[in-house]
Amino acid sequence: MRIRLGLGRRHEVSVIASMSRNLIEHGIPCLWDEDRISRCIFDSDCVVLVARDVRRIAGFAIAEFCDEKVHLNLFAVHPGYQRQGVGRKLLKWLESSAQTAGCYFMCLEVRASNNKAINFYKKYGFSELDLKHGYYAGQEDAILLTRELKTVFMPVVPC
Ligand SMILES: CC(C)(COP(=O)(O)OP(=O)(O)OC[C@H]1O[C@@H](n2cnc3c(N)ncnc32)[C@H](O)[C@@H]1OP(=O)(O)O)[C@@H](O)C(=O)NCCC(=O)NCCS
Repeated sequence: MRIRLGLGRRHEVSVIASMSRNLIEHGIPCLWDEDRISRCIFDSDCVVLVARDVRRIAGFAIAEFCDEKVHLNLFAVHPGYQRQGVGRKLLKWLESSAQTAGCYFMCLEVRASNNKAINFYKKYGFSELDLKHGYYAGQEDAILLTRELKTVFMPVVPC
């Protein structure tokens, strides 16, 4: 397996939307359709990051960069690639980009029943900040997870 990370492309939107529906939004109303994901590809405040194994999509993440924070909107690894470090790679890429962008923390909402994702994020330093009741269409609570980032100061090189 040789996983490479790169920015998502327009022709990959349908696969990303289908993974989101099946792996993240199963059993609740789908908020992340192809149109919304396409808009993220062209939004300069968003990153659509894709992990590819040759031409197949092994995983993806969609993150929104605000002034001081990065919000993870969607994050998933195809079941055939789970527990092989793909999620870690995606998260580390985003973390490093967020630090370079001067963000202080990362945050995300996760379904309260999603223990495997909660374990994953906790392993990488996230902690529970809040419980949002009925966050998912009134059907399920969300746990708000956050983690602080170390800021990277770039030296100013005189011209
Ligand atoms: C959560 C998810 C992204 C993790 O991706 P992954 O590529 O499997 O994760 P990694 O292989 O990088 O795992 C890193 C560590 O996270 C933890 N972890 C990952 N999956 C886990 C699981 N199923 N159970 C317990 N711990 C887990 C482990 O500590 C793991 O290290 P280890 O394998 O050495 O024990 C993946 O399971 C997934 O896509 N799930 C479905 C979609 C989803 O829930 N997305 C999150 C929405 S907020």
